[in-house]
Amino acid sequence: MKNEFIFLGAPASGKGTQTKKLAEDLSIPHIDTGGMLRTAVADGTEFGKIAKSYMDQGKLVPAEIVVGIVRERLHKSDCNNGFILDGFPRSIEQAEALEKILGEINNNDAKTLVVNIDTSEDVLIERIINRRSCKDCGAIYNIKFLPAKVAGICDKCGGELVQRKDDTEGVAKSRLETYKMQTQPLIKFYSDKNILVNIDGNREVDQIYEDIKQNI
Ligand code: AP5
Repeated sequence: MKNEFIFLGAPASGKGTQTKKLAEDLSIPHIDTGGMLRTAVADGTEFGKIAKSYMDQGKLVPAEIVVGIVRERLHKSDCNNGFILDGFPRSIEQAEALEKILGEINNNDAKTLVVNIDTSEDVLIERIINRRSCKDCGAIYNIKFLPAKVAGICDKCGGELVQRKDDTEGVAKSRLETYKMQTQPLIKFYSDKNILVNIDGNREVDQIYEDIKQNI
């Protein structure tokens, strides 16, 4: 059985923290559209140039760009044994496009599960403004909640820890609004298909992870 996971959740709900761990444990690819778009921006690609202006404002990058990137990624052979989508889909339009892509790549043995990390709004902004990520390996820290052993240095690879450009309070508020308008409706979309589990994201990282593992 091939397992496909879709992780939903507001900005800073903990999707990246949990999905990186799960992908490592299950040895399946972690497909993170935010990370892929940041790489395209840093590389100055044509898509990256377009994506940047949306990301800087906390808006969704146009679906035709994101869907194209995800389609190409999911067609790669390392997804044959399953994968984890982190941050895609983020709108009904993207969810419908994903159904088409899954129809292109799947035999009948695939099982899709949607995990919604439900985290209270009051903790999200604080998690966002205190987040730091490793420039080299992408490991995620938080100077308030999950600090590195040595400030500014990645525990895993020794890389420099940096703050994301969209992790300011102003952009974070806009990202939250975008989430409520465009992404939150996916909770009903997937609940109606009986493939969604809700996970309480207001707990310690390890407790959340245990709960996810029990539910998948
Ligand atoms: P993206 O990078 O996906 O950002 P996001 O969805 O806003 O999610 P985050 O990465 O902010 O948070 P997360 O839930 O992964 O939390 P994390 O584990 O890091 O997207 C960025 C932008 O790209 C979007 O705004 C959009 O413009 C564009 N984009 C991406 N996908 C797109 C798509 N499909 N369509 C269109 N546009 C798209 O944790 C957050 C912090 O909290 C960290 O510091 C962490 O250490 C800490 N933390 C985590 N868990 C806990 C815990 N349990 N307790 C305490 N602290 C915790």
